[in-house]
Amino acid sequence: VKPENNSIVIFGASGDLTKRKLLPALFHLYVNELLPEDFSILGASKTAYTDDSFRAKVTNDLIQSEGITQQQAEAFSKHLYYISMDMTDADSYVAFKERLETLSVTHNTVGNAIYYMATPPSLYAAISANLAKHKLNKDRNGWKRLIVEKPFGYDLASANELDEHLHTCFRERQVYRIDHYLGKETVQNLLVYRFSNGLFEPLWNRSFIDYVEITAAESLGVEERGGYYDHSGAVRDMLQNHLLQVLALVAMEPPAVINADAMRNEVVKVIQSLRPLEEQDLRDNLVLGQYTKSVVNGEEMPGYRSEKDVDADSRTPTYVGMKMMIDNWRWNGVPFYVRTGKRMPERLTEIVVHFKKTPHPIFGQNAPENKLILRIQPNESIQMDFGLKKPGAGFTAQQVSMSFDYNSLEENNLLTAYERLLLDCMKGDATLFARSDAVKACWEFVQPILDYKKEAKSLFGYKCGSWGPNKADEMLEKDGREWRFSS
Ligand code: BG6
Repeated sequence: VKPENNSIVIFGASGDLTKRKLLPALFHLYVNELLPEDFSILGASKTAYTDDSFRAKVTNDLIQSEGITQQQAEAFSKHLYYISMDMTDADSYVAFKERLETLSVTHNTVGNAIYYMATPPSLYAAISANLAKHKLNKDRNGWKRLIVEKPFGYDLASANELDEHLHTCFRERQVYRIDHYLGKETVQNLLVYRFSNGLFEPLWNRSFIDYVEITAAESLGVEERGGYYDHSGAVRDMLQNHLLQVLALVAMEPPAVINADAMRNEVVKVIQSLRPLEEQDLRDNLVLGQYTKSVVNGEEMPGYRSEKDVDADSRTPTYVGMKMMIDNWRWNGVPFYVRTGKRMPERLTEIVVHFKKTPHPIFGQNAPENKLILRIQPNESIQMDFGLKKPGAGFTAQQVSMSFDYNSLEENNLLTAYERLLLDCMKGDATLFARSDAVKACWEFVQPILDYKKEAKSLFGYKCGSWGPNKADEMLEKDGREWRFSS
């Protein structure tokens, strides 16, 4: 079913996110005929474009990034508009409102609107307040939805403040907080894999699982984003949002139905059950790292501190690895080791579930391990490792694996995360968007790390192209366990 006609307003239309993610996503939805019968895209930002010059810019960007044809560009452009405005100035919303009303008639969108805040977070408060001031927040005469990009705050206090503010302008059900990891096909598949099979769920608990690893490794460094990243770091940039959301999907109880409330009720319970980090955990179960200058395959890679727009004495972590415990019935005593970092050997996001060994190894001490590897990206796949008899004399067990590759699906035209999430928002489905209480619980969990980070001793160097600081390997070794990949 196609979504209802609507207007998509992009605040921050001249920015990088709009160019790299939003317009390509909207364009793909358009050519795949997934957008409504009619719609308008209204770009808003300070830069002085006209409708025509904005169309020319977007067309040009899309030709370069997506290779669209002239004909497609012309057809898509008919839906594109632009308004140059100071988003912090309440008065400029008078003209904005008129524009939106006109477009509502031109494109028959009956007042339905999505406001996408693709601006720096410092503008979120002003934009939402100004929309509310001009009654552009009211669900009367068409629905209104607000999409918020991360970061949702800078720490617990500022996140709460932002949330309270948003709630004075919009109702929670109108607020869609994008976490693009939830838009990934393979992350959603976690739910289907777990809850559509009778085979795995009975094993999915502390009686059968020894430990779980979640790795989100990136080979890139901070690239052009040093200015943003140096104030953010791996804990805020990846752990507080993407990784905790993924962990929640791995660990959650089955919801009674798949809808926004039922799903997110279970997600928040997991995050609230994470064992709060005490002083001792911060010392023993947390490793913060920063990549240092190194030579990889003969090529010299700069250290983090020499990256553009990064403070030469920066103490911002580009790696975080930690052990988390979930204090509930299902997971009591099962550690979740979670890590993410920049400049690691490869781009790889995966979940590894390590099952307990057989109680009594009759085929020798080196019994095969039972591991389930859910590869989120790239080369999306699911692999099960187990033991089989080595052909020949005797009874020696060897490790083999069975795997399923997404590429082998006949229909593997996967929507990108932004395509899926934009479409869901148009349909009013918030299942894959972060809810206020979960975001708050995530901040509550990571706040002790943010406080602890300020202390000088807590940062370890690691070489570019390695799997992070040695200290992170030791963290597992002392528990008698290991990462699937380590240096
Ligand atoms: C973003 C972070 O949210 O996620 C980036 O700000 C990170 O620093 C990116 O590189 C990773 O996303 P993906 O989809 O490439 O795994």
